[in-house]
Amino acid sequence: MALREGVRLCPSILNADHAHLSQEIERVAASSDWLHLDVMDNIFVPNQTFSLTESQEIIGLSSLPVDAHLMIANPDEVAVRYAQAGAKSVTFHLEASADPLRTIAAIKENGARAAIAIKPKTLFSEFESLLPEVDMVLVMTVEPGFGGQSFMQEMLPKVELVREVIDRLERDIWLQVDGGISAETIALAARAGADTFVAGSAVYKAESPDAMLRLLRKLAMSASSLE
Ligand code: DX5
Ligand code: ZN
Repeated sequence: MALREGVRLCPSILNADHAHLSQEIERVAASSDWLHLDVMDNIFVPNQTFSLTESQEIIGLSSLPVDAHLMIANPDEVAVRYAQAGAKSVTFHLEASADPLRTIAAIKENGARAAIAIKPKTLFSEFESLLPEVDMVLVMTVEPGFGGQSFMQEMLPKVELVREVIDRLERDIWLQVDGGISAETIALAARAGADTFVAGSAVYKAESPDAMLRLLRKLAMSASSLE
């Protein structure tokens, strides 16, 4: 039987107003479970965002636990520092890692949940064997690098496959989707088996981010029949 307990919403501050981050975080805190922090190095993806020092500041000012999504080269060296900086969940890209098992272990040893992220072109067979080792799998539903892109429906079979394996393992491994999640797409992802949802532009472009998050939660809950 599935161990899914509910849905988790993780607004991404990538496209929030960076000049007023603490207010931007407060706007979503009441209706969210995690704060999703997109770290990009301009090497693994063609965009650059928060440094480790800036990430640490954001972790410090967030009342929500921080879910750090590292879109960086060499995560095997750096991922553990995000756990040490206080991120409660650290996700690194499998495509950038030479030793995922060691990196997963190092993140866990430093008190954070450990997760792997999978780019759209990475096949299920390339990461299936790692599933029992992680606390969460992030199936990207856009090419990583930018907010505001369209949801890739062709990723849904991959989400379904991951869900099948997690259910078979009978382990509480979270299944996250990131990219193009909105009121139009969240039910598709939830129905395919996702239980943890990143949403950037849909939340911060809404007139009321709080109302949008409540709507997203309702849609995800009813699509996964958890209501
Ligand atoms: C993209 C990032 C996402 C981004 C999502 O590479 O990983 O977290 O903020 O933004 P939306 O929801 O606008 O697609
Ligand atoms: Zn992300």
